[in-house]
Amino acid sequence: MKVLHKGMNAYKNAKKVIPGGTQLLSKRPEMFLPDGWPVYYESAQGIELTDLDGNAFRDFSIGGVGSTVLGYADTDVDNAVKKIIKKGSMSTLNAPEEIELAQKLIEIHPWSEMARFCRSGGEAMAIAVRIARAYTGKTKVAFCGYHGWHDWYLSANISKSEALDGHLLPGLEPNGVPRQLEGLTYPFAYNDLDGLRKIVSEHKNDLAAIILEPSRSELPNKDFLNNVKDVASSSSAVLIFDEITSAFRINTGGIHLTVDIYPDIAVFAKALGNGYPISAVIGKREIMEAAQNSFISSTMWTERIGPAAAIAMIDKHKKQNISQKLISTGSSVKNIWKNAAEENSLEISIRGIDPLATLSFSGKSATALMTLFTQEMLDRGFLTGKSFYAMGSHTEKDICDYNLACKEVFKELASALHSNSIYKKIRGPLAHSGFKRLI
Ligand SMILES: Cc1ncc(COP(=O)(O)O)c(C=O)c1O
Repeated sequence: MKVLHKGMNAYKNAKKVIPGGTQLLSKRPEMFLPDGWPVYYESAQGIELTDLDGNAFRDFSIGGVGSTVLGYADTDVDNAVKKIIKKGSMSTLNAPEEIELAQKLIEIHPWSEMARFCRSGGEAMAIAVRIARAYTGKTKVAFCGYHGWHDWYLSANISKSEALDGHLLPGLEPNGVPRQLEGLTYPFAYNDLDGLRKIVSEHKNDLAAIILEPSRSELPNKDFLNNVKDVASSSSAVLIFDEITSAFRINTGGIHLTVDIYPDIAVFAKALGNGYPISAVIGKREIMEAAQNSFISSTMWTERIGPAAAIAMIDKHKKQNISQKLISTGSSVKNIWKNAAEENSLEISIRGIDPLATLSFSGKSATALMTLFTQEMLDRGFLTGKSFYAMGSHTEKDICDYNLACKEVFKELASALHSNSIYKKIRGPLAHSGFKRLI
């Protein structure tokens, strides 16, 4: 058992001065192992992190929440950033790297003609929605999936508090979102064309945008996406693909390229800068030009590190065929889970495209089993949780060692399950599965 005092103590202090303790829900220790997660890192390189107590862990969890697709502190991206820091990362004039990045994204996605940049995913989605509303002169939005923390999105929970369940973590309150936004956003489920058609038939004349991830827990469904595209064009709504998490996983670019179905706007963030803040909204010229008839503008969107990091990330991703590596690593991890579960007669389900794999245990002890899995893997030097996001820096040896650890831990889980001792073995409360207010 590793000593984890410093991280936990720091987190207690954090909660006194930072509401909720962290800036991102998915980085709360409660989401993994409430009393036993290292919480903070001192350094990160490749897939290895060192915590505040000096413990080293290999990351087989969410890899910088999906942002560090090449691995932590990637040398090529970091060198590009260091060059920019030396030259000056901010000035009164603009960063020429913006033009190169726009050209690169347009070259990869030839259906698009223009790009705008900002620095986070939710912010980029808010820009996309603003552009769609400005272009169409309409207000309502139909969406599927999670698209960030902004008012336009959370307003779906105003009239029905469970509207975002299944799209977002259950339990999120739209407090602070003006009630006047009620009735502007309507959720539909992936593959539920009838659900989308119903929204469209009720709001056709005021539908500004249809928004979805082209793929999340499965590969893009070509028929469904084609139908969604038809619905968007027949209702004169802007079709927006949120590629914030799905891009740069199975190809160098948006996952929609793999099925040859093109939206009016696509949005990128996370992996785009390999952990440096940069996000992009790309789209057709006529629609993107509507940005000029609105006001979409921010000082820090002009800094120079983000676009430089993105250019270096895209170049390396393409040159080293990183997506093939991510697919192969993700598929190995899925097999490791499957075999370890079969060997120990544990019921699990595995979902997600290979580079973004998710694991869940079945039955009433599911959350307890996941918590114990995380705890026992942590003791063996691995960060794990319910998702595995592959990074380019996972090696064969890492996968081999992870396999051995999983075999041992799944055996322990099965024995704890049969002897009714799962809860006794967990050193603290269970992991949270949705949003909970923290005290
Ligand atoms: C599909 C999708 N859209 C939007 C977002 C929000 O991005 P960010 O956390 O950078 O604001 C996320 C983040 O998880 C996401 O997965």
